Amino acid sequence: ESSETTKLKKMYNDAAHLFNHILVNTSMGEQALDYLHKRGLDDAMIEEFNLGYAPSKELLEAFFKEKGLDHQLLRKSGLFVEMQDGSFKERFQNRVLFPIRDPRGETIAFSGRLLLKDDKKPKYLNSPETVIFNKRKVLFNFDKAKSKIRQYKSAILFEGFMDVLAAYRAGVENGLASMGTSLTNEQIYLLERITDRLDICYDGDDPGQHATARALTLLEPLTKMKLGVLHIPEKMDPDEYVKKYGEEKFKQLAQSSHETVIAFYMRYYEQERNLANEADQLAYLADILQQLAKVQSPVERDIYLNQLAKRFGIEKINLESQLQTYVNKLG
Ligand code: CTP
Ligand code: MN
Ligand code: MN
Ligand code: MN
Ligand code: MN
Repeated sequence: ESSETTKLKKMYNDAAHLFNHILVNTSMGEQALDYLHKRGLDDAMIEEFNLGYAPSKELLEAFFKEKGLDHQLLRKSGLFVEMQDGSFKERFQNRVLFPIRDPRGETIAFSGRLLLKDDKKPKYLNSPETVIFNKRKVLFNFDKAKSKIRQYKSAILFEGFMDVLAAYRAGVENGLASMGTSLTNEQIYLLERITDRLDICYDGDDPGQHATARALTLLEPLTKMKLGVLHIPEKMDPDEYVKKYGEEKFKQLAQSSHETVIAFYMRYYEQERNLANEADQLAYLADILQQLAKVQSPVERDIYLNQLAKRFGIEKINLESQLQTYVNKLG
């Protein structure tokens, strides 16, 4: 590891502890602490994840210069935005900070959430790419989750950091999130080394469901991991679900409501359609059979062909022959 890398990681580690201190022990952090408590995070969780608060006051430049760090290093850290006149302004202000850690548990970036909605500013702001932070390679909570993932032989992918934290406090500790982007090859590789099963648990709202379909389409040709979906009802996200129904109910949901990929698509494609109408029925069947064509297991195919035959009153042999045309097209 180069000395620059070591210094940058030390800076992030020091900054994370400074911001945690401000959140937990100072009047500047009171409002943010109250916000996190209201969102269901207790002091133990706040410590566990070393959450912090970046106030409006400029603190970091003086903090680092007192430690003898040079201007060039401060520039490379990504913790500052450089002004026209060359001066530094802190990148994170008035935001709750989620430290982003590498697989070894060292802090390499932050994501900061606004306390109050502001249409002119992004709700979440991430550190820029630096020598130590490549967002394509990072999964939030991988450092803590990896041993649980190995133990359960399964990982759960959430949309947001708050969802990972909500699941964690409900006892579901094998949760991860990407940095507000779709999964990358590097992240898939990271997961494949430690698990053979991955469940997608994105938000239950329409954007979350579309993102689930995109994630499955992306993952299927790239991985041998067994894929599944954890569906959150009532268009909620996991964090909202825990808030409304409690930790125990969420834990039960996580243990009992796995959907297979095909079961997900059966629900997903139905949402946009009126299946009393024959044109919609045909389009729906075409969509499902195209997904089913990608399923290798003849037993799994049979389960769904039987369901479809029964539900739509179609001879199974006709479904099979249409399925075969899609299989042939896949080549
Ligand atoms: N995101 C982002 N910038 C935004 C909105 C979202 O980077 N302006 C990313 C964040 O990583 C966020 C994820 O997309 O966690 C999911 O977005 P959303 O569901 O809107 O946010 P939540 O995670 O539900 O955030 P919260 O509960 O704090 O409102
Ligand atoms: Mn601390
Ligand atoms: Mn969302
Ligand atoms: Mn959400
Ligand atoms: Mn949310």
